[in-house]
Amino acid sequence: MTAAQTLIRGRLLSFLRSPEGLDDTASYDYCGDGALLVEGGIIIAVGPYAEVSAQAGAEVAEIDHRPHLILPGLIDCHVHFPQMQVIGSYAANLLEWLNAYTFPEECRFVESAHAARIATKFFDELLRNGTTTAAAFCSVHKTSADAFFAESLKRGTRMIAGKVMMDRNAPQGLLDTPQSGYDETRAVIAEWHGKGRNHVAITPRFAITSTPEQMTMAGALAREFPDLHIQTHLSENHDEIAYTGSLYPDAADYTDIYAHYGLLGPKTLLGHAIHLSEREADAISDAGAIAVHCPTSNLFLGSGLFPLKAFQRRSKPLRIAVATDIGGGSSYSMLKTMDEAYKIQQLLGERLNPLESFYHMTLGNAEALALSDRIGTLAVGSDADFVVLDAAATPAMALRMETVKTLAEELFLLQTLGDDRSTVETYVAGRRSKPRETASQLPEEQEAR
Ligand code: GUN
Ligand code: ZN
Repeated sequence: MTAAQTLIRGRLLSFLRSPEGLDDTASYDYCGDGALLVEGGIIIAVGPYAEVSAQAGAEVAEIDHRPHLILPGLIDCHVHFPQMQVIGSYAANLLEWLNAYTFPEECRFVESAHAARIATKFFDELLRNGTTTAAAFCSVHKTSADAFFAESLKRGTRMIAGKVMMDRNAPQGLLDTPQSGYDETRAVIAEWHGKGRNHVAITPRFAITSTPEQMTMAGALAREFPDLHIQTHLSENHDEIAYTGSLYPDAADYTDIYAHYGLLGPKTLLGHAIHLSEREADAISDAGAIAVHCPTSNLFLGSGLFPLKAFQRRSKPLRIAVATDIGGGSSYSMLKTMDEAYKIQQLLGERLNPLESFYHMTLGNAEALALSDRIGTLAVGSDADFVVLDAAATPAMALRMETVKTLAEELFLLQTLGDDRSTVETYVAGRRSKPRETASQLPEEQEAR
């Protein structure tokens, strides 16, 4: 029989708002010997261990993670589940990478068995890295969205995803039509939205792969389902921007295309959004839309340096989220993602401190997704999704930890040297969920290859 409650002990860290500087201790809650009491997948008590353990009932299972840190589960605001097998593909730039590797790969997701196999691997990889929520692009095929959401339901995760809409400028096997893209998105919404913790997003891939007719249909979906997230790509690469302009000659700029079709609002996630004019940044800010920074991808594809700090300093600041963008991105780890985000700001002559980085991976991304009442927090009543992190997980980290004196230094070390090895455990709705197997422990699978 499983206990009704779980008491999870460790060093608790959660953010209350965006940190204003390294000494902004009021921006977070830290408890050196804390505990979370979980029941029915929800946090029912949080605070110092002595106080919380006194509130536990008779049927409680206790797990002691000391001396490790326990944070809200990490959040990835832009990732492509059908791109697991294109990571590290050698291409000169975005458009070559899409045409040579990514589009052919995504064609395979018409097969439901393939989609189901990769969905299993995808969730394993996210949870291995402490990521408990993601905003994911599926392929154009409804089968891929079905596989994704079925796996999410099985794991009990809170996920956002959408069947990609794309009706031009891609191989035949990857095209829908304005009508079928609309109908199938409606079908995915009907079958999956609100089932378990699943959220469906309206997902026109980007303006290059959607005709004006399809954009109109995506806009219709946005009007019919105003609570849904919308996710797409914007201004990632200069050739992409020029090509987009040629396809929509009447638009003022790339951002104006999405605005014109009613796709720019406070639940719109704009992947990349690197090369924006002042007018575009104003329009995005006015709409309350979110620029999603994908640092490992931007470096890998040579797309550009995202001006995160400059965007935040504007008189009309941008809302910003952070993400891996697998498979343009090169790591599933949000720690590695923020390591690269830090380096991009360094190259721009800006500072991104470790408190800000950990805020972005947790509460910041939850706010960007309008889900901070459920995730990104350790507050009572929210979902019991956690990550347990060990800043001494490898010999090199353990050695460096000997000289670490402050929480901020420990976080910075986790970000700089950490990866999936630093994830001790991942909790989904209060259940231990980090996959235990390693590739070498799966002989049948290796033989099957
Ligand atoms: N723009 C349109 N599709 C994609 C994609 O799959 N990855 C990236 N990085 N950019 C895109
Ligand atoms: Zn992307």
